[in-house]
Amino acid sequence: MTFLYKGPAQRGAVWAEQFARRMPQLPFLTWPEIGDPAQVRFLAAWEPPPRIAETLPKLEILFSVGAGVDQFDFSALPPGLTVVRMVEPGLTACMCEYISWAVLSLHREMPLYLRQQRSGQWKEQPVRPASTRRVGVMGMGMLGRAALAQLRLLGFDCAGWNRSRRNEPGVRCYSGEAELDEFLARTDILVCLLPLTPETRGILGRRVFDALPQGACLVNASRGGHLVEADLLAALENGRLSAAVLDVCEPEPPAQDHPFWTHPRIWLTPHIASATQAETAGEALLDNLRRYAFGLPLEGVVDRLRGY
Ligand code: GLV
Repeated sequence: MTFLYKGPAQRGAVWAEQFARRMPQLPFLTWPEIGDPAQVRFLAAWEPPPRIAETLPKLEILFSVGAGVDQFDFSALPPGLTVVRMVEPGLTACMCEYISWAVLSLHREMPLYLRQQRSGQWKEQPVRPASTRRVGVMGMGMLGRAALAQLRLLGFDCAGWNRSRRNEPGVRCYSGEAELDEFLARTDILVCLLPLTPETRGILGRRVFDALPQGACLVNASRGGHLVEADLLAALENGRLSAAVLDVCEPEPPAQDHPFWTHPRIWLTPHIASATQAETAGEALLDNLRRYAFGLPLEGVVDRLRGY
């Protein structure tokens, strides 16, 4: 029985060392060295090898090396294969940093002050405390809940929206299509941390923007596919939205003449909101493999029908 890793060499070296120390009975192989294909039970990858059922006939678990699993073509994976997303504290912590930075920047009017600085303007806006700013996080999975906890610590008035009902201390929780408008109507800064599925593709569009208060702001740190770009540009143009912080696009990077590069109300970062941290992710993988060996439920198992 072996564990196969397919991905950047640097992370592979960290994991190989952790596996050798903590689980020496499970040989750790790095793609393209796969040893005996019939021995490979576990694969950690962003992109699995082509024709996975034939290449790795005895594979039991596919671990995504990232938080997302939308890069997988589920229809090409053997039906019985367990798919697991990366749930690890390093990735969660970095996402919380990014969301805090973006929300604080928008709350403290940084896009406006940067524009003013560039045009030599010294002009103050009223200073208001975080408690008067209503932040709404769409997607209350591991990352959304952690971000909400952090935003609460910063003092923001927090709400969350999720497909199914969630309860989080100190957070107004909304669920489903029926409660979406109510959630949006009370949201000054909208943060998207949803998984990308056929249902959420294009959710950040006119329908959602129109339900936000005039002058609201957007932070998208999930996937470019959530956003309808033309609707964002129109909402920034007509003042429905006053600024957007985008960490993701579709495709990445956007074309050189794409309006996002130079838009005065858009801050664009190159998909760096968070990243899997090799050390902590290695520990999380080993913990999951131990759970599996003991027949316990794994952390981060994906419902293949829902797509997350
Ligand atoms: C990055 O976007 C990830 O899914 O980890």
